[in-house]
Amino acid sequence: MTTSKSKNDIIIFDTTLRDGEQSPGASMNLSEKIRIAEILEDMNVDVIEAGFPIASDGDFEAVNEIAKIVKGSTICGLARSSKGDIDRCADAIKPAASGRIHTFISTSPLHMKYKLQMAPEDVHQAVIDSVTLARNYTDDVEWSCEDGSRTEHDFMCRTIESAIDAGATTINIPDTVGYAMPTEYAAMIEMVMNRVPNIDKAIISVHCHNDLGMAVANSLAAVQVGARQIECTINGLGERAGNAAMEEIVMGLRTRPDHLPYHTNIKSELITKASKLVSTVTGFTVQPNKAIVGANAFAHEAGIHQDGVLKNAQTYEIMTPESVGLKESKLVMGKHSGRHAFREKLIELGFDLGDNAVQDAFKRFKDLADVKKDVYDEDIIAIVDDAVIRTNDIIKLEKLEVLCGTEHQPPKASMTLNVDGEQKSAEMTGDGPVDAIFKGIKDLTGLEPHLQLFQVHAVTQGTDAQAEVTVRLEEDGKTVNGQGADTDTMIASAKAYINALNKLLVKREKSAPSALSA
Ligand code: KIV
Ligand code: ZN
Repeated sequence: MTTSKSKNDIIIFDTTLRDGEQSPGASMNLSEKIRIAEILEDMNVDVIEAGFPIASDGDFEAVNEIAKIVKGSTICGLARSSKGDIDRCADAIKPAASGRIHTFISTSPLHMKYKLQMAPEDVHQAVIDSVTLARNYTDDVEWSCEDGSRTEHDFMCRTIESAIDAGATTINIPDTVGYAMPTEYAAMIEMVMNRVPNIDKAIISVHCHNDLGMAVANSLAAVQVGARQIECTINGLGERAGNAAMEEIVMGLRTRPDHLPYHTNIKSELITKASKLVSTVTGFTVQPNKAIVGANAFAHEAGIHQDGVLKNAQTYEIMTPESVGLKESKLVMGKHSGRHAFREKLIELGFDLGDNAVQDAFKRFKDLADVKKDVYDEDIIAIVDDAVIRTNDIIKLEKLEVLCGTEHQPPKASMTLNVDGEQKSAEMTGDGPVDAIFKGIKDLTGLEPHLQLFQVHAVTQGTDAQAEVTVRLEEDGKTVNGQGADTDTMIASAKAYINALNKLLVKREKSAPSALSA
């Protein structure tokens, strides 16, 4: 609600459900709008612009339902300057504990001439009539001069003065087309404050679009010269390039009080939750490098950055992840990651490895990261498991090349194994590449166990995922399972088969020492 504000308090007016919903493709149904309104209320948003009641029955119903349900925020509806719009809007917000009518008309020469086809005098009269009518329904009336940033200053001052005289309590000066520059926009707000005689009777509001990427900068510049309401949306949703992003406004004010000594009531810890909800409901995914709510906003991959963050998060983080509702920042494991982060990751995954094993696993990790874009926890587990199960192996894979194709030529596997210290090579064909590999390995080792199971699964998603292969072999009633992981399924298969053979040899050794006959 917009009550008892002190001089440096900023009113947060969220228009995700109105301007945000006007983004092509972002329409939401009633229950989705209610869910968003509820989270905005939980965040302590002062004013929720819930829709444009005249636009459709659905919009009316949404504003009306939200007005019934949400009691912690002022519920606002949008209306053009006509009687029909204002009456419908008043009806929609009637159940609100605190309701606002937001009425607007264009004041720029361009809009008046081409869009409205109205003379400035008629526009001026419409301002007075619309605000007067709205004031019959509620004491809380906002008036906007659409295309404010391209409006002539004299006309702007005149219409604002008349709107306030007619009872407007908030005057919104939009940069409708996202054309303004921060210094220019701030100067315009200052001009209004200096020239409109009754301006102290209203709150000045800003509503900036992001066509030139200036929406947040313009809003904050305006606050520095006296604006006290900011209109914004979650994730910067809105017409064309969107509106000022609420999360950026709130965190800008929270992070730089030295520069911006202003206060909002917003519970910033709910920002991530709200962002995810809006993105899910609208299907508008948030770009990974989006400020505050992008997936990479608190993620570090570069080794130098990871090392710094592990020593002291402030080295590369100007806000805490907790302050926007994240549990922690993310160290993304990839080819730029360093040893420090890798060791921390192993500890986090529950591995307690000695220095040599860490060294070996780190090398495998770097090799994998070179061929695979994202290295997930599951990949690292597979690397370590692979390293652990392969120590003390009697049979080791040194080289493997596989040829397959659609011509009338059977698949062929050429391989070199190290069998108990001796290098052996073979070339074998088979009914498929895996069959050729397994036949070659049998040939080189002289082992002929019965294959009970061959199973492949992708450790993670994507065509560059590691394949994890399981092979079960049986010999004289003894069964063993072998595992192998690699981005190349054929290599993973060979590794799994060899791993199972090594286990079989260990079993044989236990019952009859010196068992390798090949
Ligand atoms: O961008 C704009 O000018 C608007 C008005 C309706 C406030 O959305
Ligand atoms: Zn707008």
